[in-house]
Amino acid sequence: MKGSGARAQWASRLGFILAAAGSAIGLGNIWKFPYITGQNGGGAFVLVYLVCILLVGLPIMMAELHIGRRGQRDAVGCFAVLEKKRTRWRFIGWLGVCSSFLLLSFYAVVAGWSFDYVLQAASGGFQGRSAEEINALFGQLVSSPAQVVFWQGSFLVATVGIVIGGVRGGIERWSKILMPLLFLLLLLLFLRGMLSPGARAGLEFMFWPDFAKLTPTALLDALGHAFFTLSLGAATMITYGSYLDQKADLLSLSVRITLLDIMVALLAGLAIFPVVFAAGLEPNSGPGLVFQTIPIVFSTMPFGSVLAVLFFLLLSFAALSSSISMLEVSVSYLVDEKGWGRGASTLLLGGAAFVVGIPSALSFNRLAEFTPFFGQTFFDFVNALVSSYLLPLGGFFVAVYAGWFWKGSRRQDALDGGKDRPWLYPVWHVLIKYVAPGAVALVLLNQIGWFRP
Ligand code: TRP
Repeated sequence: MKGSGARAQWASRLGFILAAAGSAIGLGNIWKFPYITGQNGGGAFVLVYLVCILLVGLPIMMAELHIGRRGQRDAVGCFAVLEKKRTRWRFIGWLGVCSSFLLLSFYAVVAGWSFDYVLQAASGGFQGRSAEEINALFGQLVSSPAQVVFWQGSFLVATVGIVIGGVRGGIERWSKILMPLLFLLLLLLFLRGMLSPGARAGLEFMFWPDFAKLTPTALLDALGHAFFTLSLGAATMITYGSYLDQKADLLSLSVRITLLDIMVALLAGLAIFPVVFAAGLEPNSGPGLVFQTIPIVFSTMPFGSVLAVLFFLLLSFAALSSSISMLEVSVSYLVDEKGWGRGASTLLLGGAAFVVGIPSALSFNRLAEFTPFFGQTFFDFVNALVSSYLLPLGGFFVAVYAGWFWKGSRRQDALDGGKDRPWLYPVWHVLIKYVAPGAVALVLLNQIGWFRP
């Protein structure tokens, strides 16, 4: 397999957009965005998050896709192709391989909860229950070690099953059906939220910026989440870009992926917060938020059980289209660099992600009191380590590499894709050279206390 020419490519442009949007759109949008918005006080946080996505995330996405498209190899190999064979820049690839692997380990835990909720909804578990009772169901699930580990494992089996089959068939075909369905259902939930008595409070919470609530942690969370939600900083877009042909227009692809991603996050927030306020719940309840609020909406709706099943099914699929992109990073590394077979690599890495993820699964029950990691549980620690530090750092190095070490012609190439856009070049150059790395550096230095007296 080493260096073999028979490398997969996306079947169509649309197929790529849906796969890349499938990677971007996931638990980050529907589970994480609402709950960290809730924890960081709403409006001002949402604004900073949008600014981070447009000024930092989008330019870096273009650079990552470009590295992949040029290299046509795994994340580490791409740097060897673009530079010298043993170039130091390969560390960006390795960092990405490690980050996406760690990410998969705890992502599978949360996605597993979603699997469980499909079954609970299918058995009519939410119907006719009060908001408090539904709230309590989440606690019951996560406090059962056997249950969460079982679902975490099931989710990884599904992920492995798809990745083993390769890039094209499964992912592209399924994305074309599932992503539009998810979108429709979210629209429905959004309308339902807008008609609820909490609509006004929800809208105000999300769009009325109160800058007094912007703590240093909020800034870090917003920046980290911009990377998380766009699947950046962990070599995912490098890997997906490596299955693109040389003529792809990276700017228009990136813009579309980014807009779809933003839209889904905002819809999810606008579906969830009105319900939170109408039901008298707290917006800052943390990782359980979507699991505790969405079933409440459905419990009082006609065909509520069916819609609830559909919602958690689609949430599971959204998670799956993201988790396969995480696993693909390390699988393609073993396949392209070490000459392993795809089957063996996928099984080994999927199994390893399961083992590494077990302490995360147990962080809500057995290991809930085990907090030697700066007072955090294992789950919280790995989540913060990856989302708040490793992803921004990975993005930082990509930006420094593309902004400072590329020749102008290569940057032009990343931007153009054969189109004539001379006016955009200086904008992109400033963003990737100064703004993106500067923002990451400031926020990280601020976080480690550099600017405190
Ligand atoms: N973007 C996905 C989400 O929002 C998660 C994800 C997939 C990801 N691949 C990634 C995050 C790579 C960071 C890096 O759910």
